[in-house]
Amino acid sequence: MMPPVARSRLLRLLQLAALGLTLGACSVIGIPDSPLNSLDPKGPFAERIDNLFWPVFWIATGVFVLVEGAVLVAAIVFRDRKDRKEPRQIHGNNKLEILWTVIPAAILASIAVPTFQAVFELTECGEGAYPVEIIGHQWWFEYRYPAESIETANVLVIPAGREVCASMTSEDVIHNYWVPALNGKRYLVPGQTTLLRLQADEPGVYWGQCAEFCGLSHSLMRAQVRAVTEAEFSDWVAAQQAPPATPAEGTPAGAGLEVFLNRGCTQCHNIDTINEIEQGAFNGPDLTHFMDRGVIAGAYKEYSVDNLKTWLANPPKEKPGSYMPNLGLTQQEIDDLAAFLETLT
Ligand code: CUA
Repeated sequence: MMPPVARSRLLRLLQLAALGLTLGACSVIGIPDSPLNSLDPKGPFAERIDNLFWPVFWIATGVFVLVEGAVLVAAIVFRDRKDRKEPRQIHGNNKLEILWTVIPAAILASIAVPTFQAVFELTECGEGAYPVEIIGHQWWFEYRYPAESIETANVLVIPAGREVCASMTSEDVIHNYWVPALNGKRYLVPGQTTLLRLQADEPGVYWGQCAEFCGLSHSLMRAQVRAVTEAEFSDWVAAQQAPPATPAEGTPAGAGLEVFLNRGCTQCHNIDTINEIEQGAFNGPDLTHFMDRGVIAGAYKEYSVDNLKTWLANPPKEKPGSYMPNLGLTQQEIDDLAAFLETLT
């Protein structure tokens, strides 16, 4: 009979092992609701990492099986038994010492060479890559398209099949841009510029997440890359460059415009042709084509008019630490403001 303490410890170990296996299985299978799967590359840069991951994984698996196997064999064959003599001691055996120094060194070197190659390849953008800028804020990503004079947020729209070179920086603390289907993680550092190569082979939506703890709402700092065909991309650029519609007076949207202009929104948010403000360190997402995004407030939620109204009613409640304050809007003001924002297509 096993003593109760040992039994409960064994039980706990088994539970931990089961949990580990379950979590491991989730990440390998890639359940449909887990868009942040780094084992399902959708572009050449993520593939480059994947092609490095699997050989290293199998080498590590081989080493694990060999070493653990040897430990098990030694533990069974040389276990303590009655009348058993002490096994032959091998301490100070030069041949063995050299052997088990050289083999791991050779394995590490064979992993290091392709790893460094990949790291350098992924650090420099290719020639002719389409330039974008990504700026980290607490807690949302801003996107600029310098060639097209476009500023937007939350959703990075890119042409599929073309390399995009993102110059990244941060306006406040260190963030990290991670869209696992398209590339690995890269820091956004205040006062520095880092480069990230992104490319999606096929049109689609690729989710990302800030991957560096950056304050209270770090976990709600999401990102989305929407890859579209070249034709759709040209249309998108043209739509972004166009001014938004101005709502008519006397409509809910018209009343919402008054709320936008008079209740504090213009301190941080720009809408082209309506209140052009200088985009500085302390600003909120550009709202000129707010409805194009399909997500709100740092992509933490999908767009719906109800989600938008909940957000407008009390942002810091939805996103702890949010710099967008509770403006104390009445329900009527919230309804009107939502009606106005819905015209910003
Ligand atoms: Cu930004 Cu975490």
